[in-house]
Order: sequence, then C-alpha cells, then structure tokens
Amino acid sequence: MSPRRPLVAANWKLNGSRAANAALLRALCGALPPPLPADVVICPPFVYLADVATMLHGTGMATGGQDVATEDQGAFTGEVSAPMLRDVGCEYVIVGHSERRAHYGDSDEIVAIKAAAAARAGLVPIICVGETLAERDRGETIAVVTRQMDAVIRNTGINVFGASLVAYEPVWAIGTGRTATPQQAQEVHAAIRALIARHDATMAAGLRILYGGSVKAGNAKDLFAMKDIDGGLIGGASLDAAEFANICKAAVTDPA
Ligand code: PGA
Repeated sequence: MSPRRPLVAANWKLNGSRAANAALLRALCGALPPPLPADVVICPPFVYLADVATMLHGTGMATGGQDVATEDQGAFTGEVSAPMLRDVGCEYVIVGHSERRAHYGDSDEIVAIKAAAAARAGLVPIICVGETLAERDRGETIAVVTRQMDAVIRNTGINVFGASLVAYEPVWAIGTGRTATPQQAQEVHAAIRALIARHDATMAAGLRILYGGSVKAGNAKDLFAMKDIDGGLIGGASLDAAEFANICKAAVTDPA
C-alpha cells in the first residue's frame, strides 16, 4: 500500500460562471460528503477563487490557482501573485501546465521561478511535466520530463519537492480522450520518482505524483492502482460533479 494519501485536483481551465460554479460545487459536495476519500483540490479561474474558497469552507476540499506570477508585486499588468492567491484562501497552484507552456511562453525556467514563488508564499505548487506526441514518437519521453524536472531543481533547489506535487500530463492525452495506459503512465511516474531519489530518497518516497490527461471515472481506478500514481489532475471530467466525485472515490488506496 502506498504511504502517500491520494490527491485529485480539478482543473476547470477557462470554464464556469458564478451560477454554474455554485451548482457544480453544490452537486459535488452532495456526492462527496466528509470524510473525503482523497485530498480534493478545486482550481477555478482566478476571478472565482474567493467565491469558491468560501463555498468550500467546511467541506474539507481545498482551492488552487491555475497559474501564478513569477513576481510577488509591482508593475506586472494582468498578473496574479502567490501572496494574493494565499490571501484569498488558496492552498495550491498549478504551474507549468502544458497549455501555459504552449500558448503563453512558459519556459522550463519560468515554470521553475513560478514554483519557487508559490512555495515561498506557502502554496503547494502542482508542477506539470509531459511530452508531446512527436517527442513520444521519437522516444524522448523520459528525456523531456527529465529536462523539465531538472530545470526546477537547478533553479529552486531540490527542497521545493518536499512541499510540492508533480503532475505527469502527456500533452497528447490532454483533452483528447486518448489516455496513457496505466503502464505507460507508471513508467514515467517511476522515472520521476527515481530522479528525485537521486537527490533525496526520503523526499522521493513521500512525493505525490499525479497523472493527468483524459482521466474519467471509467479509467481512473486502473491508473490510480499503479504503484507510483498518487491521484490525478482532471480537466474536462471535473466539470461534471458525478463524474469527478467518482474519480475521487477511485483514488482510495486499496489496502489489499
Ligand atoms: P483533461 O485535462 O482531463 O481534459 O484531459 C487534464 C489537464 O489538462 O489538466
């Protein structure tokens, strides 16, 4: 049995409205009464964070941002900083999501600086890594993920992984309905844990590594049963309360 408590995070991306969020969370809380089967984190767009944090009060679920500024304050129009996320009740923040890397220029170095900014403010960064289909086809999956992880280690030091999560999200599996097989995901998760273990074995044993990419209630159990998969980062399926609740329930570690 894994010593790590599973965690399931909902990445709502650019979706929602006040009315839709309230309805979704009401249904979700009804489907997931305490005690929760896993740690559950809801990541809405920035403007809804304070509302969502208030709605989740007392449910045991936490809130997270979907991105964070590299800077804490100053002349950076349009940005939202880690201390601000803390101020509105966030405990987690996603950094380096492949959509940020692909569409908004988040380089490996920027992702590392964002992870450091988050950790400095007391947020738990959910550091996303993953290869494109072309990279997988060229046999570069482990090399790409290693490069992405090493950039964080080089820029922030290994200790940031003592209070972070990693999410392995193959780009070709995100929003495509094409999930990595449990074996494909496990192979990369094991490589990520081994990479951290080369610096600190205890830290590696405690690090929670999430899988993301077309996770649904129907495939979650087989993915979460893998030795090094400690939960999921869920996009599309997190917008359906019953589906997301069932994914959270699939994260319960089977003591058998
Ligand atoms: P998906 O997205 O579950 O819709 O594939 C996952 C993610 O992008 O975090």
